[in-house]
Amino acid sequence: VSTDDLAQLVLNTIDRDGAIASSADLRFQGQPVENQALHGALSSLERREMITYETIEFDKWVLTAEGADIEANGSHEAKVFNAVPADGLAIGDLAKKVGAESAKIGQGKAFKNKWIGKGKNGQLVRLVASIRDVTQEDLATIKKTHAHPDAKVLAELKKRKLCDKEKVTHYRVAKGPHFSTVIVKQATDLTVDMLLSGSWQNLDFKKYNFDALGQEPSGGHLHPLMKVREEFRQIFFEMGFEEMPTNRYVESSFWNFDALFQPQQHPARDMHDTFFLKNPATSNRFPKACMEQVKQVHSTGGFGSIGYGYDWKEEEAEKLLLRTHTTAVSSNMLYKLAHQEGGFTPAKYFSIDRVFRNETVDATHLAEFHQVEGVIADVGLTLGDLIGFINVFCQKMGVTNIRFKPAYNPYTEPSMEIFSYHQGLGKWVEIGNSGMFRPEMLGPLGLPDNVRVIAWGLSLERPTMIKYGIDNIRELLGHKCDLEMIQKNPICRLDKKMGREN
Ligand code: PHE
Repeated sequence: VSTDDLAQLVLNTIDRDGAIASSADLRFQGQPVENQALHGALSSLERREMITYETIEFDKWVLTAEGADIEANGSHEAKVFNAVPADGLAIGDLAKKVGAESAKIGQGKAFKNKWIGKGKNGQLVRLVASIRDVTQEDLATIKKTHAHPDAKVLAELKKRKLCDKEKVTHYRVAKGPHFSTVIVKQATDLTVDMLLSGSWQNLDFKKYNFDALGQEPSGGHLHPLMKVREEFRQIFFEMGFEEMPTNRYVESSFWNFDALFQPQQHPARDMHDTFFLKNPATSNRFPKACMEQVKQVHSTGGFGSIGYGYDWKEEEAEKLLLRTHTTAVSSNMLYKLAHQEGGFTPAKYFSIDRVFRNETVDATHLAEFHQVEGVIADVGLTLGDLIGFINVFCQKMGVTNIRFKPAYNPYTEPSMEIFSYHQGLGKWVEIGNSGMFRPEMLGPLGLPDNVRVIAWGLSLERPTMIKYGIDNIRELLGHKCDLEMIQKNPICRLDKKMGREN
């Protein structure tokens, strides 16, 4: 039955009868109509104000299988009564006549009703000439009317599991202000033609359905990493940091390693750890005066250092690579800060971007990931400043319980790994690395003697995976990443503390 058929049926019925007291009586081609389809037809007619309708809910009483059996064949006690002939029945024969169940249940009731009793020599005998099987009559009433005038009877029969109630919905329908038996097709769009011909004036326009859900836009979903990155950016901005330009994945070894006082024999500079470029393989576009200083500090020392004492080669510094850390950008920025017009001024820099390492890919490692890095350069900064800044930063991202552990980096001294207590894992986990840049790094970059630079770095992937409950990095990034996950994941809110308490 189509919605249109039902709508027409409703209109015709109202036209004939004036209203519909209960939709239960509606018949389409002799069949009762299904409620859900009817509701669809009614709401569409109501939107056109052709009808109004009310929903009526009530209980409908129906017989259970056992109740239906009793309604048809009589109650157990009536069966027992009918099985006892005028001249009595041996108790042992009752079950044979009425079945074990009726014999068991019906006997007691028949006794209680004083329909039967025990005669001489223990036989069952009738005590009355005839009986009324009230249970059967009550069930017949329920079967016919789906109700019973006596609520006590209903409760009693329900308790005996002979009947039960169902909730049913009916509709009461009346004429609306625009009642008619003819359903005129409604116009949905106002067209240029309608305006030109003036036909819009006589058209019935479909009403807007403000309850309809809008279509979900299919584009422009941010990746979870980008959502968390945005939260981190806000933390840095709140703390007065400036964003470094990291839109360059390829760096020379000079900025990535040499300027960071990382010796040319260092294992990280091996092909197995770093992706080097083939074409072009090299670039010498780094400041030569600075390079000379770097060369000197590596090979013979300077700035209070004895250096590494090896033969530093420019060819090695020219090798192009995919940056292995964003500290390559920090070294470049510190050089620019030292050489800006007017000389050095204090600065707070940050970056959040991609880095690349030639790693074996597993559940927690990819060959590329994102680093979050903060760098502060000022006169006379101390390790206490570094610890303080990291504490505030971590607090703002919702991490309050942190500890530091001495570590080693070629470019920082002292160096500290940052640990946070992970409630879920019940242990301290490493969340980042930090340190004070060495004089062997800052001197060749041209920074004044009394300037100290503190810095720290975290990965973006780890907090993102924790935040979004993703435990395999390949589900977050790369070809196995489920695009639907990206569309559906919620916005990121780090539980960061705001305001003056920090
Ligand atoms: N560059 C370091 C790394 O790759 C992180 C770091 C940044 C360490 C700044 C100290 C200071 O892990």
